[in-house]
This record gives sequence, structure tokens and C-alpha cells, in this order.
Amino acid sequence: MIRDNHGRPINYLRLAVTDRCNLRCFYCMPEEGIKFLPKPHLLTFEEMVRMVSIMAEMGINKVRITGGEPFVRKDMMQLLQSITELNGIEQVNITTNGVLTAPLVPELKALGISSVNLSLDTLDRQRFIDMTRRDELSSVLKTLDALLENDIKTKINAVIMAGKNDEDIIPMVKLAKDLPVSVRFIEEMPFNGSGINKEAFMSHTRIIDMIRETYPSLHKLQDEPNSTSYNYAINDFKGSVGVIAAFSRTFCGTCNRIRVTPTGTLKTCLYDDGVMNIRDLLRSENDNGVIKEKLYTAFTNRAKDGFEAESLRSAEVTESMTTIGG
Ligand code: GTP
Ligand code: 5AD
Ligand code: SF4
Repeated sequence: MIRDNHGRPINYLRLAVTDRCNLRCFYCMPEEGIKFLPKPHLLTFEEMVRMVSIMAEMGINKVRITGGEPFVRKDMMQLLQSITELNGIEQVNITTNGVLTAPLVPELKALGISSVNLSLDTLDRQRFIDMTRRDELSSVLKTLDALLENDIKTKINAVIMAGKNDEDIIPMVKLAKDLPVSVRFIEEMPFNGSGINKEAFMSHTRIIDMIRETYPSLHKLQDEPNSTSYNYAINDFKGSVGVIAAFSRTFCGTCNRIRVTPTGTLKTCLYDDGVMNIRDLLRSENDNGVIKEKLYTAFTNRAKDGFEAESLRSAEVTESMTTIGG
């Protein structure tokens, strides 16, 4: 297992398989969408599998597939199967918006996908339309049902913005009363195609205070190592709730993650603007040993936290999350 230059083990790859998405969440991209990448710029599935197998030899044992929306890329099941079969890969998880996912859930279960994170910011149909610019709440809820029916560990991700969907916090907390899900509220980050949006920002502490007002029995759970979320239980609830301090960046000290974007850019922090391009290397270099050495150099030269990574960027954060994968 590789340790970075700050002593943090690196074992988790977040692989964004496409920048395309079938929703237009306003905290992620402008209404008209972004200029999606031409296909030849994207890593092919063969390139992804080769890359993950090289990384598995370096100690990566957990892969999260993200996008865009992963399931808008054709033949996703084939990619998932190839990655789950790689030596050394112990866990393959997916983050999805759930629009196309429901019918695929039994197959995901059969492939051994152990956990799915479902993006869902509101349970109100009109607000869902306002936030995502698409009328797809019912498809997402079908995915939630299918995940639970198939006994797949499920976390719900809700990005919270004051004046937009803060009134959804309590109804979404209530989901965890009868369902064995983890409902996680996320601080908004400026990865939206245009940049910072200070007025609507809600900190993780404010969100927790708000939940505690309604549920005084809210109490802290022991978090898993390297968890992005701070997790809490409420008396008599089957599930749990959590907050992700994605903008406050309070969990960098245990960060075990690297990212690869759909064009093969390696990010050793969400807030950096890319430290090398793996696609070009995969296309020009036949010797996996050479690729491994370059990756090793990148893994052992990470910024100490998201603030340092941001300060080293060539331009401010404005890119859309759909090009990074979260
Ligand atoms: P688990 O593996 O289930 O803990 O998932 P996760 O929280 O790592 O991933 P998910 O794709 O569900 O992301 C949830 C939110 O956390 C998204 O808004 C991500 O952008 C954010 N997030 C994930 N990893 C990091 C990180 O390393 N730094 C920051 N700042 N945010 C992150
Ligand atoms: N800020 C915080 N989280 C975001 N996500 C997408 N855009 C943003 C943003 N600007 C979340 C999605 C998804 C996860 C991968 O990232 O809701 O659940
Ligand atoms: Fe890791 Fe960067 Fe996220 Fe901090 S901000 S947890 S260093 S990816």
C-alpha cells in the first residue's frame, strides 16, 4: 500500500466514466449543459481497465464509479464486470442519480456491487424539477426501492442550499426512520460551471444544528476510517444521517482518495486542477512499469489538504462537477 507524502494511505480511486448526464442540477452545471467532450477524448473501457489494474498493483483496492451519470455511458455493466474481476479490487461502488438505474439493480447485485450512493436533493416533485431541470423524481425513487429490495447498502446524497432545499432536510431525515439508509447532507462546492455561490451556502454544522432542533436524540456514531461524512443516529431510526463538509474540508487529514476524470486527468485532490494526464500515457507507453513510476511520483506529491490544492491551481474553481465526478 502506498502512503502519500503526508503519511496517508492511498487505496481509493474515484473513476468518472463520462461527463454526460441526463439531469441538469443547477449546483453542478448551467441549464444549457456544458460542452460535452468528444468521444476520442474519453478514456476507452479498455484503457480504464488497464489503468485500474495498474493501480490495483499499487494498492488501490476500492473503486467508485462516478460521472456525469455513469449509466448514460453504453455498456457500463461490461466495464463494471471487468473492474470487479481485477485482482486486488475488493470493493466497487457507484454514485448515480438513479434516473436509469432501477432496472439494472438486480444485475448490480449479481456483480457484487456492495454499495450505491444515490443523489437525491428533495422529495418534492416540483422542487426536484426546479433543481434538476428534469421531471424524474419518480424514476429516482424507483431506484431507491430497488436498491433496498436487493439489499444493497445505500447512501443518499443531498446537496443543501439555503433558500433552495433547506426545507427538505427534515423530510429527508425522516426517510431514515423506517429505511436502513444513510441520508447525507452535503455542503455546496463551487464546481458548477460558473463559480462560488456564497448566499446559499449552508455549513455542515448549521445543518446538524437544524436536525438536532427537531431530533434532540441525534447523537454521533463512530465513523468508518477515511469517511467523508460525519455520521449520526437518532433514537428509534433504522437508518442514519450524515453531513459532508465538502467545502469546509475538515476531513483532508484522512484523505485516501485519488480521482481520474473522463479524459484521464489524474487529480490527487478534488480541489486541484489535475496533476497529470494518464490517457496520453496509456496511449503512448506500453510498459506498465513506466506508468506505475509516474503514478507513484504523483501519489507521493499530494497537497496536504484541499485549501493547499486550491491555492496551487492555475485558475479559480469554476469547472462543472460533471467533468470531475465529485
Ligand atoms: P463513500 O465511499 O460511501 O464514503 O462515498 P463518498 O462520500 O466518498 O462519495 P460520494 O460520491 O457519495 O460523494 C459524496 C460527496 O462527497 C460529493 O459531493 C463529493 O464531491 C464529496 N466528496 C467525496 N470525496 C471528497 C473529497 O475527497 N473531498 C471533498 N472535499 N469532497 C469529497
Ligand atoms: N457541490 C457539492 N456536491 C456536489 N455534487 C455535484 N455537484 C456538487 C457541488 N457543486 C454531488 C452530487 C453527487 C456527488 C458525486 O457530488 O450530488 O451526489
Ligand atoms: Fe482529499 Fe482534497 Fe477532498 Fe481534502 S479536499 S478530502 S485532500 S480530495
